[in-house]
Amino acid sequence: MFKSFILFILFFKICTSSDTLTTNQSIKDGQSLISKHNNFAFGFFSPGNSSFKYLGIWYVKVTPKTVVWVANRNVPINDSSGVLIINHYGDLVLHDGNYRPLWSTNVSVQDQATNSLEAQLLDSGNLVLVQDNNKKVLWQSFDHPTDTLLPNMKLGLNLITGTNMFLTSWKSKDDPGTGNYSYKMNPNGSPQIFLYKGSTPYWRSGPWPYPSTPHKIASSSEEYNFVNNQDEISFSYSVDDPSIMTREVLDNTGLLQKLVWDDGVHRWKELWSAPKERCENYGQCGSFSKCSPDNVNRFECTCLPGYEPKSPRDWDLRDGSEGCVRRNSGFSMCKNGEGFVKLEHLNPPDSSFDAAWIGMSMSSSECEQACLTNCSCTAFSSINIDGKGTGCLAWYGELVDILQYTDVGPDLNVRVDATELAKYIRKSKGSLRKQRKLATALVSIVVPMFLVSLLACVWLAKKKKTEVKRKVLNQSLNVASTKGFFEGHELEDSSTHSDLLIFDLSCIVAATENFSPTNKLGQGGFGSVFKGQLSNGQHIAVKRLSKSSRQGTEEFKNELMLIAKLQHKNLVKLLGYCIPDDEMMLIYEYMPNKSLDSIIFDHTRASFLNWKKRFEIILGIARGILYLHQDSRLKIIHRDLKASNVLLDTEMNPKISDFGMARIFKEDQTQDKTTRVVGTYGYMSPEYVVFGQFSTKSDVFSFGVILLEIVSGRKNCDSYQKHPSQNLIGHVWELWREDRALDIVDLSIKESYVSDEVLRCIQVGLLCVEEEVVDRPTMFAINLMLSSETTLPSPKKPAFIFGSPSKKLDSVIGGASCSINEVTITKFEAR
Ligand SMILES: *[C@@H]1O[C@H](CO)[C@@H](O)[C@H](O)[C@H]1NC(C)=O
Ligand SMILES: *[C@@H]1O[C@H](CO)[C@@H](O)[C@H](O)[C@H]1NC(C)=O
Ligand SMILES: *[C@@H]1O[C@H](CO)[C@@H](O)[C@H](O)[C@H]1NC(C)=O
Ligand SMILES: *[C@@H]1O[C@H](CO)[C@@H](O)[C@H](O)[C@H]1NC(C)=O
Ligand SMILES: *[C@@H]1O[C@H](CO)[C@@H](O)[C@H](O)[C@H]1NC(C)=O
Ligand SMILES: *[C@@H]1O[C@H](CO)[C@@H](O)[C@H](O)[C@H]1NC(C)=O
Repeated sequence: MFKSFILFILFFKICTSSDTLTTNQSIKDGQSLISKHNNFAFGFFSPGNSSFKYLGIWYVKVTPKTVVWVANRNVPINDSSGVLIINHYGDLVLHDGNYRPLWSTNVSVQDQATNSLEAQLLDSGNLVLVQDNNKKVLWQSFDHPTDTLLPNMKLGLNLITGTNMFLTSWKSKDDPGTGNYSYKMNPNGSPQIFLYKGSTPYWRSGPWPYPSTPHKIASSSEEYNFVNNQDEISFSYSVDDPSIMTREVLDNTGLLQKLVWDDGVHRWKELWSAPKERCENYGQCGSFSKCSPDNVNRFECTCLPGYEPKSPRDWDLRDGSEGCVRRNSGFSMCKNGEGFVKLEHLNPPDSSFDAAWIGMSMSSSECEQACLTNCSCTAFSSINIDGKGTGCLAWYGELVDILQYTDVGPDLNVRVDATELAKYIRKSKGSLRKQRKLATALVSIVVPMFLVSLLACVWLAKKKKTEVKRKVLNQSLNVASTKGFFEGHELEDSSTHSDLLIFDLSCIVAATENFSPTNKLGQGGFGSVFKGQLSNGQHIAVKRLSKSSRQGTEEFKNELMLIAKLQHKNLVKLLGYCIPDDEMMLIYEYMPNKSLDSIIFDHTRASFLNWKKRFEIILGIARGILYLHQDSRLKIIHRDLKASNVLLDTEMNPKISDFGMARIFKEDQTQDKTTRVVGTYGYMSPEYVVFGQFSTKSDVFSFGVILLEIVSGRKNCDSYQKHPSQNLIGHVWELWREDRALDIVDLSIKESYVSDEVLRCIQVGLLCVEEEVVDRPTMFAINLMLSSETTLPSPKKPAFIFGSPSKKLDSVIGGASCSINEVTITKFEAR
């Protein structure tokens, strides 16, 4: 009895002070194994506020207790009855007070003399079960990671035993049970390590031999080791100074962190973590596009060379998930003069499918040749492998999850067809003129080509429907009698107008207090506009064409027909109409912030709109016009775009209004001509004023003027002290040429503007007001230019750089006021 008591004391002592556990010994609650140099301890603990007991390994010198490994993570013990022993099968077994086994190493070496086994906690934090006689390691905790990767611990696959070592998060800070996140080697293609939530990847390291994203190889005392051979595919890291305590941990929120213990402040310091930026999220941008995190205010996704957004509208709304598709996909990329465009400093695309190492020692040109000869090869990377020279990694399908770094990371060479290649070769030669020509060619050939095919698709799909509608519309527009038109049943019948209300005159009279002058908002093109409030409290704007004015009837009908068919957040919304005898009224949603001109040209109110807001307004107007030109079911030319026709809602979102002069084009029609030129001087394009020709490009001209007005806070037709004859366009052009374009910026946004964005806007504005119709970009191109960082063509000398238009126009237009102008062209038609 006494003897066994002594023995107990003895073995208790051994257990608390030693690094080994042998057969016939045990570890109970309150006892622990300590590694030789006092680095790690192994024993029972309770995490956070939990009252459950777990068996695990933690740092001896770190408080609060930092656990790096847990044995029974999913089977906690609810009291302090847990005991760990080496049983007679040679297994380390944890059991509770009722001798129920909760956890076991499961190695069972029955044929061995079990008394020669011992468990040992090493200074690396590894718990090993060894055979005493031959020192063979039967089991080690490093092969069964929980949520922490310690130095020299391997993450990956042992191809001989088939074990996969990966991290899984804890459920919570109080519960080390298996959570939903994992950090795991994916051996397919070129091996990479992924972070997964369940089975969905949400972050990816670089492909082998890039174990982690390059900025993470920060500390020089640390070495990464990525093994890829027949026996194993694994990643590990080591530190040359053993006194540095460092760990990679996957926390319970799915964040992977690299931490180092700072003894000075007694705190874990983060060296890096992932995923940190939006761009790091797996597949943030869709296939064939790359994500650039440094695009602070811009859309982070950019299509790869030779590719364009698959869904331009989503792209426009900053949703890149649809990715990009090949431009001119009809043009073969197989033995047809194709080549590669090099992109620098990337985390190359996901290499787990459709990718392969072609060779481990190949020069860049050999690699290029190898990719070129296989027509399904879409890209290649020539990657430097430490100690093995340069390897050749090639992709044969989609290019997914490409991340742009600023100054590190391998290059990616993307396959492009001959026409794209020519563009990039010339670009790299730095010829500005050619670059500009090409960009113009791109804008004027490729974009329309794309549009035409897009429209063709839409057209095919909706052919029948459209034809019916067009017929109805044409009929309506051709009806001579106003009354007959409104009495026709087209409006009521067409499903597109189903939510258009027919208001009672009495209702409108009540709402506007009998068209009280105090409720008058202004005089529109051909009628007065009144503010009103319906009995349900809704505010409305009523546009009234009085019986005395017969002039605006056409415009009024036109507006009703058009706007009823349109719906876009950047177009003003028509609620309904009211047609009492000999009168016509349109009822719109009310825009409390009035029109754009009432703010930007007013020195006291201009500061309401900071640069951010102004930029959003510019983008909104651009989207609205794009919708009119391309995305609605009709192709519509507005013809009277100007600052006073852009209304602002409560959130200062722009809404284009006044469709009185708008014209519908057939889908294949690009231009039309009129002898009755109606518009606002200062916003009208030269070909429209002079020849009566209008097209989407005349709207583009007007947009350019509005854009420059928003940036500068000045009206185009105001003259300047220095050159009284010069208008805003001329003034901006002059400053642009002198590289002083920022001088034009409105003083009230001097504090808030972002010079890159402003310069880009000014450049786009100048491109829009170019004299030659073909030189002006389409609205589609403009939307792209404003929301991406593509290189812009250099603007040419704009049209109308003087306050009064060129001399030949003096005869048709008198003064240079910003009033509505109507010109009847007779003399130029004969030419
Ligand atoms: C362990 O216990 C068994 C039986 O109780 C005994 O035969 C054996 O010698 C013991 N081993 C050691 C190393 O004490
Ligand atoms: C433990 O509980 C205390 C008080 O309820 C709380 O402040 C603390 O955050 C909890 N700690 C953990 C790790 O959950
Ligand atoms: C602990 O769990 C066992 C079975 O899992 C149960 O029989 C026992 O009552 C529990 N004890 C406490 C204190 O909850
Ligand atoms: C031990 O291995 C067996 C079969 O290999 C398995 O069914 C059992 O769940 C394992 N036990 C533990 C505790 O891992
Ligand atoms: C894991 O995911 C499942 C299903 O999405 C969810 O119900 C559960 O709460 C998650 N667990 C944790 C610890 O977040
Ligand atoms: C191109 O490479 C892919 C992937 O390695 C391969 O399956 C295919 O056979 C190759 N095609 C040719 C023509 O070599």
